[in-house]
Amino acid sequence: MPPIDRRNFIRHIIAGSGALASGLLTACNNDGAANASTSNTFTHGVASGDPLTDRVILWTRAVPASGSSLNVNWEVASDEAFSNIVSKGETSTDAARDYTIKVDATGLQAGSTYFYRFKTGDAVSPSGKTRTLPTGDISEVKLAVFSCANYPAGYFHVYAEAAKRNDLFAALHLGDYIYEYGAGADQYASADATKLGRVSVPANELLKIEDYRQRYAQYRSDKDLQALHARLPFICIWDDHEVANDAWKDGAENHTTATEGDFTLRRAAALKAWYEWLPVREQDASNPLKAYRSFDFGSLLSLHMLDTRLGGRDKQLDYVDYIDPSTGVFNTAGFTAAMSDPTRQLLGAEQTAWLQGQLAASTAIWQVLGQQVLMGKMHLPSPLLTPTPQNPTVSFAQYGVIATAFITYQTLSTQLTAAGTPVTPENLLAAGMTTDQLTIVNDPTSQAIINAPSIPYNLDAWDGYAVARETVYGIARLLDKNLLVLSGDTHNAWANDLQDQDGNQVGVEFATGSVSSPGLEEYLPGTSPAELAAGVRQLIPTLAYADTSKRGYLVLRVTPAEAQADWHLVSTVKETVYTTVLDKSLTTLPGAGNRKIVRT
Ligand SMILES: [Fe+2]
Repeated sequence: MPPIDRRNFIRHIIAGSGALASGLLTACNNDGAANASTSNTFTHGVASGDPLTDRVILWTRAVPASGSSLNVNWEVASDEAFSNIVSKGETSTDAARDYTIKVDATGLQAGSTYFYRFKTGDAVSPSGKTRTLPTGDISEVKLAVFSCANYPAGYFHVYAEAAKRNDLFAALHLGDYIYEYGAGADQYASADATKLGRVSVPANELLKIEDYRQRYAQYRSDKDLQALHARLPFICIWDDHEVANDAWKDGAENHTTATEGDFTLRRAAALKAWYEWLPVREQDASNPLKAYRSFDFGSLLSLHMLDTRLGGRDKQLDYVDYIDPSTGVFNTAGFTAAMSDPTRQLLGAEQTAWLQGQLAASTAIWQVLGQQVLMGKMHLPSPLLTPTPQNPTVSFAQYGVIATAFITYQTLSTQLTAAGTPVTPENLLAAGMTTDQLTIVNDPTSQAIINAPSIPYNLDAWDGYAVARETVYGIARLLDKNLLVLSGDTHNAWANDLQDQDGNQVGVEFATGSVSSPGLEEYLPGTSPAELAAGVRQLIPTLAYADTSKRGYLVLRVTPAEAQADWHLVSTVKETVYTTVLDKSLTTLPGAGNRKIVRT
C-alpha cells in the first residue's frame, strides 16, 4: 500500500488506487529462541527459513575484525544444549554478500525440531530454533502471517507477540518487510520516527545495493524481529516496497527513470539485498525474479507462495487516465475494455501455469496461496471514490446518512403501501421519516449518489486484474480444490468470501493487517473505525470482517476438518507499553458446498 494523503487516498483507493562482547553465547530461553543480540562478529542474530522435509535455510551475518572475508562453521543439533549434532559444515562470507551467510542444512528428519548456531574463532552466534516440514497425515498446523513492517512508523510489537508463542510452526511474511522511503518527518509514515528513535537509515530513498543493505541492517537490528527470526522458520515473499511503491514488472509508482536511473538496475540491487538478508532458498540463480515456490505440510496443506509484483504484473490501470481533463467525463467504455483485456496479467503466464501444475499435483486437503494483494472483490460506490462532476465525492459518513435516508424511505413506502396508505410526504413523516431524510431522497444530487455504480476501490489489487483473477478461480474450481488465500499489502485486516464473476463460491481470503504501517485510520481520521468497518461490510456482502485501525498479525490454524483465522491486534505501535487482543476468529470448512466463511 502506498503512502496516502487525501488526494493520494482517492488515487490509491481508485487507482492503485515501512553489545554483547564478541564470542559471547546468548542464552536460549526455555523454548530455544535466542535472545535478540548483536555482537562484534555476529551482528544481526540468526534466522532460518524455507523448511522442507529434509533441509532448512540457516542465516546469520558475520563481520571479520580484520581482513575481507571470514570462515564460519555452522551446526544443527536435535537438542537445545547442542549435545547431539546432526548436521554441520563450514562456509565463508565476504563483503560481496554484505557478510551475510546462508546455508542449506541438509540431511534432516521430517517433522523435527532443531537448534542451530554459527561459530568463528572464539565467537559463537546466538542459537536459533527451527523445524522441518512434516510428512504423512498431519492433525494440525498453525502459521503466523505478517506483512507491512515499517520501522519509522512504530515498534514491532506484533513480531514480539508472535515470538512469545509456543504453538506456531512457521512465520509467513507476505512482503513489505522493509520500506524504501528516505528519512524525514515528511516521508511516508515517518512523522513519529524521531520521537520513537526509529529514523530510517540511510536518509535517502533506497536506490543502490548499499542503500538496500543498510536498510535491511537497520530493520534486522530490531530486537523483536530478531527474536521472531530466532524462534521460527520464515517463509517470505516480497511485495512492492522491497523495491519501490506500487511496483510492476517494468517499473513502479515510486520510481522515476529520469532521475533515479534504470528500474531494472534498481530492482536487481533490491533483490540481491533481499536474497542476502532473508532466509530464502534461491529457486533459480540465473533469474532472481523467480521466487514463487511451494511447501507441502504432509497431506494437510500445500502452501504456494506467489509473486504478484515483479515477475509478471502488467502496469496498474488508473481511473485518472480515463477521465477527460476538460469535461471530467469518465470513459467507461475505454476503461471497461482495458479491464477486460484477456492478455492482462498479474501472475504472468509462466507463474500461472506453474500454479496450475502445483494445484493439480497436490493431494493435500487445503491449497493455500501466500501472496500480497487483496483477491476478494472490493467494489464501493463510485461517489465514495471519484471526485468527478458525474460522481460527486462524499465521505463514508455522508454516504451513510444518504443511504439510511433511502433505505428508510423504501422501508416505510413498502409498509404504507401494504397498509393501503398513500405514500405522501405527510404520511412518510407520520410513519417516522425525518424532514432531513425527506429532503435527501428528493435531492437530485443525493439520488445520483445512491444510483451511482460500484467500482473497484483498489486497482493495484486483484480487483484491477479481474480477468487474471477469474483464471485463478477457474483453475481452483476445475481442480475442485479447497482454496485459502492469504493476503497482506493493505495494512488492514479483512476476510472475504471469494466468488467468481458468476457468483460461484471459490474459496476464502484471510488478509492480515500490518506489523506497523498505518491503516485507513490515518487517512480517514474523522471516521469511526467501527462505523467504517460496518459500512464497508454493508456495501460489500462478501466481506465477513474488517479492521481498519489496528496493527496485528494473523494465525492460520489448519486441521483436516476446518481452517481458522485468528486476528491478533495490538493497541498501539507508538508506545512501548501496549496490550493485545484476539479481535476475531473465523473458520471455513473443506469440500464443495463449503469453501466459504462460516458466518456466526
Ligand atoms: Fe505495506
